[in-house]
Order: sequence, then C-alpha cells, then structure tokens
Amino acid sequence: MKKFLDLISEEMQNAFAAAGYDSALGKVTLSNRPDLCEYQCNGAMAGAKIYKKAPVMIAGDIAEKCRDSKIFSSVEAVPPGFLNLKVRESFVKDYLAGMQAEEKFGLEMPKKPSKIIVDYGGPNVAKPLHVGHLRSAIIGESIKRIARYAGHEVIGDIHMGEWGLQMGLIITELKERKPELVYFDEAYTGEYPKEAPFTLAELEEIYPTASKKSKEDAAYKEKALEATFKLQSGVRGYHALWQHIMGVSIPDLKKNYEKLDVEFDLWKGEADVKDLIPDMVEYMKKEGYAYISEGALVVDVKEETDTKEIPPCMILKSDGASLYNTTDLATIIDRMKEYHPDRLIYLADKRQNLYFEQVFRCARKTKLVEPGTELLHIGFGTMNGKDGKPFKTREGGVMRLEYLIQEINDEMYRKITDNRQVEEEEARKTAEVVALSAIKYGDLSNQAAKDYIFDIDKFTSFEGDTGPYILYTIVRIKSILNKIKDQGGSLDQASFREAESEAEKSLMLELTGFNAMMETAYAESAPHKICAYIYGLANAFNHFYHETKIVTEENEEKKLGWIALLLLTRDILEVCIGVLGFSAPERM
Ligand code: ARG
Repeated sequence: MKKFLDLISEEMQNAFAAAGYDSALGKVTLSNRPDLCEYQCNGAMAGAKIYKKAPVMIAGDIAEKCRDSKIFSSVEAVPPGFLNLKVRESFVKDYLAGMQAEEKFGLEMPKKPSKIIVDYGGPNVAKPLHVGHLRSAIIGESIKRIARYAGHEVIGDIHMGEWGLQMGLIITELKERKPELVYFDEAYTGEYPKEAPFTLAELEEIYPTASKKSKEDAAYKEKALEATFKLQSGVRGYHALWQHIMGVSIPDLKKNYEKLDVEFDLWKGEADVKDLIPDMVEYMKKEGYAYISEGALVVDVKEETDTKEIPPCMILKSDGASLYNTTDLATIIDRMKEYHPDRLIYLADKRQNLYFEQVFRCARKTKLVEPGTELLHIGFGTMNGKDGKPFKTREGGVMRLEYLIQEINDEMYRKITDNRQVEEEEARKTAEVVALSAIKYGDLSNQAAKDYIFDIDKFTSFEGDTGPYILYTIVRIKSILNKIKDQGGSLDQASFREAESEAEKSLMLELTGFNAMMETAYAESAPHKICAYIYGLANAFNHFYHETKIVTEENEEKKLGWIALLLLTRDILEVCIGVLGFSAPERM
C-alpha cells in the first residue's frame, strides 16, 4: 500500500505540474506548526529562484489548482510562500479502511527478501552476564523481529564466547583445587565421567577467583594461557572439562534469555568454528594476505583514505592461540557457507567499533564475503546508573542481569498492588510482563549508540515515555472493548467514519504513519523510531479517549466508527510492542 505522505506528495506534485512548475517541488512533509496545519510544502520557496517569481505568487497558483482536490480540504498560501495543508476527513477514513483490510496494515513486502543473520546476545560462557549483554540481547532481538516483520528471512545467532581465556582460567583453578581429577591425567585414555566435577554455583565462584588471581600472579596467568592453548589444541581431558562447563552453563543462560523473551535460532559459538581455523590460516598465508609480524600472524587492513590509524588484524597470537578475531573470521566463513546471507548484523558495545572495522576489512580483503555482502556493526552505548557511571548494584558491584530483572519485577509488583486489590499470583505475573516492558522500552527508546541512564523510577512509571505507559494504553483499549462486548455490543460491524473532532482526526492521522515508520525502522535498524511512534500514538489515543464518551454513545454508527478506531489502534500498538520484544497483559 502506498504511504500516506507519498499519496499527499503526489497530489501536490500534480498541482505543481498543472500550474506549470516542476513537479519535484511538490514534496510534502509533516507540519512543524501543528497549530496551523497538518502538513506543509515548501516547494514554492524553492521555486522562487528557478522561476524568478515571488514565492507567495507560486504558492497562490498551487492553492488555486488544489481547490477541488479530493485529498486536501485546505491549501493555504501564506507569506512568504509556504503552503499550509489539511487533508480531507474522507481521505483519512478511506486510508485507514485500506490499512485495516491489508496484511500488515499496508506495509509493503520486499520483492526479493534479504537473508540476514543477526549476531547478538554474545554471552561469555561461565562469566556472569552483565548489563552490556542485556543491551545486546534487547536491541538484537528487536532488530531481528523488525526485519522479520518487514518480510526478510532472518536468523538470530547467540554467538557465545566460549573459546577464550576464561576457559583456561577455570581449568587452571580447577587443577589447583583438585589436581587428582582424571581430566588432568594425560595418560588416561578411558571415558570421562558424565557428571561435571562442579555445580553452577561453584562455577560462578571459580571464574572470578581465577580471574583475580591471574591479575595478581604472572605465573598463574601463564598457566591459564597454557591451559587455553591446550584446550584449543584439543587435549582430551581439557576438552571434556570444557564440555562440562558448557553443560552446566547453557541451561542457566537459556533460563536468563527466556525471562527476557529473547529467542535464538542458533546457539552457535566461537568453538563451533574451531575446525575451520587451520584451513583459513593456510589460505590467508598462501594467498599472501597474512604475514608474520613480531611472531604473530596478521593481515594489514589499513587503507589510504584512513584518517586514523587502523592496526593490522591479528589472526594468530605468537603462541599460536586463536583470538576473538580468529573465531569471528572463521564464523563469517561458516555463515557464508551454511546460509549465504546478504547481510550480517553484529550487536556489540560501541567500544568494539575499531575491532569490527578490522574484522570487516579483513573479511573483504581476504574475500571471505562476496562484494555485495553487507557487514554492519551496531555499536551500542553504556547503560549507566543515576550517577552517570556504568550501572552497579546497590552494594557497588557490577550488576548481574538476573538481580536487575528481579529488582524491577519487585518494583512493578509493588506498584501494581498499590494500585488495586489483585490476587498474589496474577499480580506477580502481571508485574513480570510490565517489568519487561519497562526494561526493554527504557533501553530501546534511546538511539542505540547513545549511553543512557537506567532510572528504575522513571522506567517503571505509568506516565510519560515508558513501556508501562504504552501497556497501560493498550489495556485501557482492551477494557473499553470488553465493556462494549459486555453490554451486548458487537465489534464485527465496526467501520471507519470521518473524524468529527480534532482529537479524533489527530489519532487517525497518527495511525496513517504506520507503514512509513516501520519501513524506516527496518532500513535504519532503529527500534527507537518505533518507540517514538507508539508514544505519539498512545498520546493521541489518550487525548481522544478523554474527550469522547465511547461506551455510552447512543448513536450506533458513531460508536461503530470509534470501535474501528480502537481496534486498529490496539492492533498497531500490539504489533509494535511485539517487534520491540514485549507484550501487554489483559489487565493491570
Ligand atoms: N562475547 C562478546 C562480548 O562479551 C560479544 C560477541 C559479539 N559478537 C561477535 N561476533 N563478536 O563482548
């Protein structure tokens, strides 16, 4: 379905042409003076130079041509030459009826869908998840859902970090504590025990202890590096321990992501591509891309046009161990081979900008991807506390994801039970749903690259630009519709009518912007545009609601028009929060 603003622009372009001017001047935009008009066109101002004519004269000619327009109810030429526009109620009504009848409310589907892999989440197995991982999961999940809704084929991959130093650290610490474990007996050739030699709780303690020791004790660090290398070289006992670490950690990770309503299609990680590394290294050497520099194997990625220093991409460390880069490059090979994506999107902290620049350049230079393959890193900012510093617990430690979620759940529960009498179980469930909206909307409503302040009081508020406010609006609509049904009214006959009030028309106009907004949100990978849109839509709805007695309206036809409006508003809000990654309860 054509976009509303495009239809209006076409009408304006025709008027320019009919009056003898260049039709390209007829571009229409949203009004930046909503007190004066709904839309505006500044083409007469631009035309003045071309036609050497006073802009207000040109604007006058256009207004004249629009007199019988089926789209515009008013076209005003105002000095010095602006065109202030209002659209006909009938045109808006027809457009909404069209949206209602179309799939996805008139969002056009791509002729050739793209295949996209979204690499997000990126937890480091056996290390605690932190708020950076929260952002990656939230933004990535939304970008995945937006692309899917926009008609593309999207695969979400968690890309676990489970092949690095943290594994060597854990193995080293285990060896210090229990050197008698069979995994450390290099002469052992039998099967290893099925049961892990540690619990999740122990594992959670082992990693930080080992990490601390390695920072204080160079010899310990050396051992950890060696253990990492041994693991990567396939030492049996180490690999068996690694599998135990994975076996204990992954169910816990799954639980965490489930709570966030984040779902990955692929649970692959760095280790899944380990067998591709030797061939990749060989290839890069043979083709002359990679060379030894200070013992390490590197590929130069600097370009003449660089304004800042871009260091070489390191493929292997001097001890032969693979790095973060190595597995990322091998993962690109794997993805190209398995899925042939048109586009690879990576969600990771913006402090990794340079890193991804190096990896992408290296992948292009060494022809791991096709020239047309798009590689995109979406670098997000830091989630800070109210003090402007990276978010911490009350006690000052780094915030663990599950505690953070629990804290918001509790706060939401308190608010919900403060508001009204609710059964404990329902209140808990509702609190979880609303809390998720608070966390996700609080994050997604900011441009991803910006740092933002995680403010529990603000995010959990039922008023203002928050998730709970959006849910509150949806619940309100649902409750009005339920009341109408309870009175024996039917929703099936709902049919749009021409707006009778300013508030009603504003709401209708907000609705018309859906497809254009969604198209942009997809093209720019910008969930914040969806947040801004639904915030405006919710405001327009609530304004309309406060002015209109819907349930008690006697005029049946009027009421059916409003029901149509309620249904479309509800559906669009629900689709939008769906792609943002949360949902609304029935009541709250
Ligand atoms: N595990 C990484 C981290 O915690 C994020 C992974 C991002 N994805 C990637 N393909 N490098 O920072």
